[in-house]
Amino acid sequence: MLWKLAYLLQPETAHQLAIALLKRYPRFMFRLMTRPIDSHPALSQKLWGMDFANPIGLAAGFDKNAEIVPAMMQMGFGFIEVGTLTPRAQAGNDKPRLFRLSKDRAIINRLGFNNQGQQYAHRRLEMLYNQPRKSIIGVNIGKNKDTDDAIADYVLGWQQMADVADYITVNISSPNTAGLRELQQYKQLQRLLEALGNVRIKHQKKIPLLVKIAPDLGQEQIKDIVELSLTYQVNGLIISNTTIERFDSLKSYHVQQTGGLSGQPLFQKSTAVLAKFYRLTEGRIPLIGVGGVASAEQAYQKIRAGANLIQLYTALIYSGFRLVHEIHRQLPRLLAKDGYNHISQAIGRGA
Ligand SMILES: Cc1cc2nc3c(=O)[nH]c(=O)nc-3n(C[C@H](O)[C@H](O)[C@H](O)COP(=O)(O)O)c2cc1C
Repeated sequence: MLWKLAYLLQPETAHQLAIALLKRYPRFMFRLMTRPIDSHPALSQKLWGMDFANPIGLAAGFDKNAEIVPAMMQMGFGFIEVGTLTPRAQAGNDKPRLFRLSKDRAIINRLGFNNQGQQYAHRRLEMLYNQPRKSIIGVNIGKNKDTDDAIADYVLGWQQMADVADYITVNISSPNTAGLRELQQYKQLQRLLEALGNVRIKHQKKIPLLVKIAPDLGQEQIKDIVELSLTYQVNGLIISNTTIERFDSLKSYHVQQTGGLSGQPLFQKSTAVLAKFYRLTEGRIPLIGVGGVASAEQAYQKIRAGANLIQLYTALIYSGFRLVHEIHRQLPRLLAKDGYNHISQAIGRGA
């Protein structure tokens, strides 16, 4: 019902309204949208020394400014990734910059890292971080549009956010910031990981470093990223961000808009890239599978392709938070059907 009403609004206005309501009335919104659920023991994992009650995460970009973390914890996410946060607040690209492709159950966005900046989010996370909580909190960092030194922005991001994060994701894959995806190239990535390695050694708090990559990579680039990730002790890879590809199958009006495409049409491509990374890393680096997950079956396919954890974004716009519950309920059944009694037994079995 709420979701149907939201469709009458511009997509960005609908999102802003949802954030405002979830921020102001987290408990009320929770009761309105979903029912409480306990995580099934077959879904819990210890990763990087932390307990994930379940493998279902909120993908970056949904709660850019860490405004609705308590509400998202109640919704049953095992982990919540806020951001992308840049060192300084910035407005992002001109509107309109977010488009629903309803017939394809997809979205195109060219938001361009609109966010309130790291200090704002830090203040919000400070209030929660040391309280007892059920979900892991990840912080996704990026660079400002007008920065001259991209690497310095990531180093600063680490310094500013590490004390309120369980893990940090370095986002080098959004298509809407000029030059960002070039950081995935060998030399640039090496320099970035070296710089981050130095700041991590100095920082008293040791937290995992994750790198979020694009689905639009060739085999050689994938090999390079794996090699560098192993050399520089990257703790996890998030696969993937949105794609700049426009599939022939797309039917919606907005298909030619510039930006990153997410949702159903991205599922196959991002899952294939995930499986490639799994085969090359052979389980040495935990992977987070994201892109087009809209059902428990698809969450399970990501796990079989090599994901320890999965994340959701676009399907939440089309199906609402009931999807989190559906995955909670169905995943243990899907595991049992294949003879597994714990998620860890299924990871990479289909890669
Ligand atoms: C409107 C929108 C904004 C996004 N913003 C970010 C972002 O700030 N940082 C980031 O790493 N990914 C961002 N993403 C990408 C998602 O986190 C995710 O990787 C991608 O949408 C694929 O998952 P999905 O098909 O489930 O949406 C954004 C996606 C959408 C749709």
